[in-house]
Amino acid sequence: MTAPVEEDVKVGFGRMRRVEDARFIRGRGTYVDDVQLPGMLHLAILRSPYAHAKIVSIDTSAAEAHPKVKAVVTGATLDSLGLAWMPTISYDTQAVLATDKVRFQGQEVAFVVAEDRYSARDALELIEVEYEPLPVIADAKTALDPGAPVIRDDKEGKADNHIYDWQAGDKDKTDAAFAAADVVVSEEILYPRVHPAPLETCGSVAHLDKATGKLTVWTTTQAPHAHRTLYAIVAGLPEQKIRIISPDIGGGFGGKVGIYPGYVLAVVGTIVTGKPVKWMEDRSENLVSTAFARDYHMTGEIAATADGKILGLKVNVLADHGAFNGVAQPTKYPAGFFHIFTGSYDYGAAWCNVTAVYTNKAPGGVAYACSFRITEAVYLVERMIDALAAKLDMDPAELRLRNFIQEDQFPYTTPTGWTYDSGNYPVTMRKAMEIAGYEKLREEQRAQRERWAAGDRSGTLTGVGISFFTEGVGAGPRKHMDILGLGMADGAELRVHPTGKAVLRLSCQSQGQGHETTFAQIVSHELGIPTLDIEVVHGDTDQTPFGLGTYGSRSTPVSGGATAVVARKVRDRAKLVAAAMLEVSHEDLEWEQGRWFVKGDPEQGKTIAEIAMAAHGALELPEGVEGHLDATCVYNPPDLTYPFGAYIAVVDVDPGTGVVKVRRFIAVDDCGTRINPMIVEGQIHGGLADGIGMALMQVMAFDTDGNHLGSSFMDYLLPTSLECPSWELGETVTPSPHHPIGAKGVGESATVGSPAAIVNAVLDALKPWDVTHADMPLTPANVWSLTQGRPLRT
Ligand code: CDP
Repeated sequence: MTAPVEEDVKVGFGRMRRVEDARFIRGRGTYVDDVQLPGMLHLAILRSPYAHAKIVSIDTSAAEAHPKVKAVVTGATLDSLGLAWMPTISYDTQAVLATDKVRFQGQEVAFVVAEDRYSARDALELIEVEYEPLPVIADAKTALDPGAPVIRDDKEGKADNHIYDWQAGDKDKTDAAFAAADVVVSEEILYPRVHPAPLETCGSVAHLDKATGKLTVWTTTQAPHAHRTLYAIVAGLPEQKIRIISPDIGGGFGGKVGIYPGYVLAVVGTIVTGKPVKWMEDRSENLVSTAFARDYHMTGEIAATADGKILGLKVNVLADHGAFNGVAQPTKYPAGFFHIFTGSYDYGAAWCNVTAVYTNKAPGGVAYACSFRITEAVYLVERMIDALAAKLDMDPAELRLRNFIQEDQFPYTTPTGWTYDSGNYPVTMRKAMEIAGYEKLREEQRAQRERWAAGDRSGTLTGVGISFFTEGVGAGPRKHMDILGLGMADGAELRVHPTGKAVLRLSCQSQGQGHETTFAQIVSHELGIPTLDIEVVHGDTDQTPFGLGTYGSRSTPVSGGATAVVARKVRDRAKLVAAAMLEVSHEDLEWEQGRWFVKGDPEQGKTIAEIAMAAHGALELPEGVEGHLDATCVYNPPDLTYPFGAYIAVVDVDPGTGVVKVRRFIAVDDCGTRINPMIVEGQIHGGLADGIGMALMQVMAFDTDGNHLGSSFMDYLLPTSLECPSWELGETVTPSPHHPIGAKGVGESATVGSPAAIVNAVLDALKPWDVTHADMPLTPANVWSLTQGRPLRT
């Protein structure tokens, strides 16, 4: 249960209402679509109605004749400028505008720039495109069939739809563990294609000022600095002349990390017309063409002894990457961090193979509220544990408790090479069980099942599902990680003004997570300056230091580290100034929040505000202090941080209709030190709602012709308060030993951990039918069909 805010904490960590909400609740946020520039034109994109078709011809003459149209551009025009293709985040290429053929429904074919949005859209209908339809691969399982149509025939010598095979772990050791096992359980598990579906769609306003040569782009990006560098490299523009402004962002969830053709087209539009150009997607365009997530077809096998000691886990994945490989991942890991699939358990052997293929679907594979494929990994292991528990006829909580990594094993290195920083899993698990009243729930369930077995089949069936997740967040250490060659360290700059007020400039960028509050709280914690006296500047490459942006819950682990370190640099400098002011040696000073004082004489001290004024004033400054207290820092994290949590879902399933109601949801999260517990809880609430969406409602479905079947919120269902119970939250706090303030990321924990709890709960309710697995989404129709024709165990 969320505690009410009694009083906002003024200094340091604690509950306080978000400072940014003062503008959001008044409707005073500035989003990309709010940007209006004099003479601004509007861009609209013509998209392919086919999933796979040759472009025979394009006639733009009627559109060009439209009185309000300023430019019509096709792939052929871009080709002549060498701009028809762009690199993806995964070292593949993607068509900016199709030239030879279209490869997914909704692909960009041409664009129009017009005086207003309506005319631009009208003119799209005047463009005549002749297509020659080609056979379609809509099912990843057929992508490698002999004779399958080759989707990427633009790539020289490409004769199939294979992208990569990638392995992690030790196959021989894992095979040996399986050979020695009493029990082996296997399951085919699909994590369906879903979409981040932020409420704000993607868009850009691009303005090339021909007089100064400066290109300014207001854009919906989670990684403004990376976008700047990529525009410079790809388009050959001088980087110092590019300014990316990422204003208020209406949700990113991983979907606004990469560069979409629309962003590039807005830049082309301003270059071609010499005017500012705005491009803003509509909802359907966003769902159909921007990056999907998941789409992992997994075969899991788990091996154990008869008494439930897990010995090993194997996974084979067929990954559907769509028509271009635009998966978000650090360069070294083509399948992201999927090989963290060993989960929270201590066993010696694990192995995975991931095979990625092209299909005629939109590209993507983004880390939707997830640290690079960790959601798929957690879902896999947590489903496999439940499948094993069912086979052994063991309580799933008991099986987990028996196999957890123990507190004294941290730092713990997994069989696939990850080193978890800290944890105390049994305590977190038991806390969740206590909040849930686990034993009582099982008793209720036993009584209900006995009633059913005796023939009274009225009412719903209770299911209790557990998921225990460990995530790796905070990408990442430069020694292991880069994206397209850009290392993943983050920058922070801190200025302390003469009056003791401060400005923090960050390389990461909030999309609604409350950074303007929490990052100010970190400075406040380190320096004692009241949080409201600290302004956070972010999302503007001209005003902030370089860094790789916000996704994968990396802001707190990386930029949060940078913020603490830069504040400590200021504090160290303030110490020298305070020593000069107090005419003592700096070694004789001691710190308490907000001031340096003389050891043994606490009355003799100077506050940070007094020190800041002196540093800017006439005081003769000591060596090492040139003038003010300002400092900069680049933080290269030593490792990822590993938040974890125990989730328990209680559902009521009506076998007659297949309707699932989530009655209760208990979430005990451990993200180390909590900077602002209220914001942490908000992040968890949002992620849990996301989990209900994925588990029960959402899928990006396609027909055999590659037609998208969910291009509006009428078909692609977002969870609302009606589907969500009143969340029951708990916490444990196990600080990260290597993070400056002991904090781990949390933004995505709940999205990562919750789907498995809900699916496990539904399958638990259906145990009398011995259903061992069912794929998401567990819609009423899907749940109802699970029991049809199956004998009921009595
Ligand atoms: O990268 P992103 O901001 O999406 O994720 P995060 O680093 O997990 O942070 C989400 C929000 O929760 C931010 O406002 C954080 O500062 C806050 N947070 C916190 O207060 N305490 C933590 N231990 C972790 C995050």
